[in-house]
Amino acid sequence: MNKPVLALLGLFLSSVAAAECEINVDVGDSLQFSPDTIEVEASCETVTVNLNHTGQLPAAAMGHNWVLSTDADFEAIAMAGMSAGLAGNYLPADDDRIIAATPIIGGGESTSVSFSIAGLDADESYTFFCSFPGHWSVMKGSFKIV
Ligand code: CO
Repeated sequence: MNKPVLALLGLFLSSVAAAECEINVDVGDSLQFSPDTIEVEASCETVTVNLNHTGQLPAAAMGHNWVLSTDADFEAIAMAGMSAGLAGNYLPADDDRIIAATPIIGGGESTSVSFSIAGLDADESYTFFCSFPGHWSVMKGSFKIV
């Protein structure tokens, strides 16, 4: 099959498979998430985020991950992650402020993370972001419990 057909098939399958507690997030060779706002229902015991990098560039040049924290914590986490390097997914190790995180991936790769939202609060503001240096200040979105 050619690429457009595969892309359409992928869209179809992902829309069919999208349960309310499973979110598909696309990234490419630019600094943005699609979607950039995620809402999950409080009744979800576990949320799964599937991150799909549709770009061409390798992780060292255009790496992306999906990291969740409170709004208040996200900048400090990103700053602390710079020294971890690509091998450390640009995240501080064993940091309790990180609610969930995928590894960093490059173009053509996919990854996912599943996590409990039992401790999260509908009144709190959460941010998801890419911790790659130079990305996190613009490559971020809003995560809400509804
Ligand atoms: Co990135």
